[in-house]
Amino acid sequence: MKAIVCTKYGPPDVLQLKEVEKPTPKDDEVLVKVRAASLNAADFEIVRGTWSARFGGPLRPMYKIPGSDIAGRVDAVGRNVKQFQPGDEIWGDLSFPYGYGTFAEYVCVSENALALKPASMTFEEASTYPQAAIISLQTLRDKGQIQPGQKVLINGAGGGMGTFAVQIAKLYGAEVTGVDSEMKLDMLRSIGADHVIDYTQEDYTKSGQRYDLIVDVVAYRSIFDYRRALSPEGNFLIVGGSLATFLQVVLLGTLISRIGSKKLGLNKYEPNNREDLAMLAELFKAGKVVPVIDRRYPLSEVPEALRYLEEGHALGKVVITVEHNNKT
Ligand SMILES: NC(=O)c1ccc[n+]([C@@H]2O[C@H](COP(=O)([O-])OP(=O)(O)OC[C@H]3O[C@@H](n4cnc5c(N)ncnc54)[C@H](OP(=O)(O)O)[C@@H]3O)[C@@H](O)[C@H]2O)c1
Repeated sequence: MKAIVCTKYGPPDVLQLKEVEKPTPKDDEVLVKVRAASLNAADFEIVRGTWSARFGGPLRPMYKIPGSDIAGRVDAVGRNVKQFQPGDEIWGDLSFPYGYGTFAEYVCVSENALALKPASMTFEEASTYPQAAIISLQTLRDKGQIQPGQKVLINGAGGGMGTFAVQIAKLYGAEVTGVDSEMKLDMLRSIGADHVIDYTQEDYTKSGQRYDLIVDVVAYRSIFDYRRALSPEGNFLIVGGSLATFLQVVLLGTLISRIGSKKLGLNKYEPNNREDLAMLAELFKAGKVVPVIDRRYPLSEVPEALRYLEEGHALGKVVITVEHNNKT
């Protein structure tokens, strides 16, 4: 089969399209024929070997075939697999601990990483949800305890995760501010943002506005800046950003949260939670939370697709479409 292979850390050019052996499922695994795989910023971070990626492989990538989000069809199952059968259409997130490998024609994975794909979604649409929409939902609802009428700010709102977070925050009745670059602001308004901020013109932590809940996917400031932007009982949750900010949130944020009424902490992520995927499927059907898909690329162009995402121009999600001669 064809797969995108990554044997060393570096820019997207280190990726190679290769012919590799088609995997065979172990007893508890499902062989999936990949039809679409959406990109997340975490995918280029894994290829580049940024700080978060090196926990798994300090010197070289732990997994040779990258790619985490998947939508596809079950091709074969191991003899202990109970929940799926050949022909089932599935979606899921194969990031740690599920082995990645979605930038390929086929991948083998534990059945626990998969759920039945809603029939109302195309493979491309389905591939955008498992990581970005689930993190957004769980972070806002469970960790953020989002309430109607709250002032909620999403930083990095125009990207893959942010476009889901804006729609989900609106669904919970919040007054939503989306922060991103100028070219993404009209799109943010179109998906429901009440206010928008161009981060190249204004630093939201210095504007004097206070927010009840801040979800930041590109956090690199001091936590005292974030603390200042919170209302008296406000909550700041970091999803992505610099190592320095993560460490401050984990170490100092915990202390600040104990001694005061403002809270600073990490996002929530329980991958492949089937109830949450089912909820998102219903919201899609009702037209309330829909993917914003910017571009589609074929498997052979994963390096170009990652470069495009990394340059920061993508409005929402970028999707890899995997073509097969036999469409079943
Ligand atoms: N904690 C977890 O459980 C977990 C799991 C998976 C992923 N993540 C992290 O989540 C992060 C975001 O993922 P994603 O897929 O949504 O990324 P993405 O699609 O690249 O979106 C990031 C957005 O932020 C914007 N941006 C860049 N610099 C900014 C700034 N200084 N202020 C405001 N906005 C800015 C980008 O636009 P421009 O570049 O055009 O400005 C882009 O629209 C990644 O860092 C990833 O590691 C966390």
